[in-house]
Amino acid sequence: MTTAYVNGHFLPMESAMVHIEDRGFQFADGVYEVVACFNGHFLDMGPHLERLEQSCAAINIPLPCTLERLAELVQETWRRNPFQDAMVYIQVTRGAAPRAHLAPDNLVPTLVITSADLPKPSESKLAKGAKAITLADFRWKHCEIKSIALLASVMGKQEANRRQADEAFWLDGEGHVLEGCSTNIFAVINGTLVTHPLDHQVLGGITRKMLIRVAHDAGIEVQERPWKLDEPGLTETMLTSTTNAALPVCFMDDKPVGNGVPGPMTRKLRGLMIDAMDALRAS
Ligand code: PDD
Repeated sequence: MTTAYVNGHFLPMESAMVHIEDRGFQFADGVYEVVACFNGHFLDMGPHLERLEQSCAAINIPLPCTLERLAELVQETWRRNPFQDAMVYIQVTRGAAPRAHLAPDNLVPTLVITSADLPKPSESKLAKGAKAITLADFRWKHCEIKSIALLASVMGKQEANRRQADEAFWLDGEGHVLEGCSTNIFAVINGTLVTHPLDHQVLGGITRKMLIRVAHDAGIEVQERPWKLDEPGLTETMLTSTTNAALPVCFMDDKPVGNGVPGPMTRKLRGLMIDAMDALRAS
């Protein structure tokens, strides 16, 4: 049985509840984070909590406690659950109140933290690479906020699944690749690692940042600029997220990317990221 943290209490998952008038339930009026934990050591806890603070600030929800206290609660939630490698989910909503678009002042935010087994890509997915489709972006214009309003992402994943793919890549009106439903996207173009710059159309992924850091350290040039899938010299694409690290994407809309197999740059960068995670686990 797993244990969840809800508003000051650790409870068995079955009895962990929030109010039916919680604004997260009624308006998706909240934000979240997913942090990976390796044997009790959290990967980039600081940046995740800072991003949560920024998401809360962007929609005017006061942080339910200090970031130091939040880090303790996240650690404690991991400790009370049986998963060595875990993904810890943190959700903050504006709180519970009779349904009205404008919330009353001084509402107490809802804080929920859960821990689950860290999903990892299967060996066959790593060997063959993932498949993606492309969709015209129909999300809202504040994708930099890690909002719990994920309906467009759910619809994108449903369409990807219907077409036997793993992820949908959002394209802007000119065909630039923005990001995936729950991932950031990189391409290798003429040996350079390329990804869309940070703006309101993409989430500033913590894994995106890690990949850029790892690439710089390995002497690989990185460009943050708009790019398209049909650019000459494009040989690889990969996605990044907390639960995937860097994962090769080898088919796009049923057509092979490059040779249709995981390319050398993706394999090298993924290897370096996995090494860093293994070192964290052993620390
Ligand atoms: N998703 N872009 C979007 C739209 C995302 O939802 C996510 C994360 C990312 C990658 O961010 P990070 O590297 O910080 O995990 C990019 C999480 C994992 C989720 O919704 O489960």
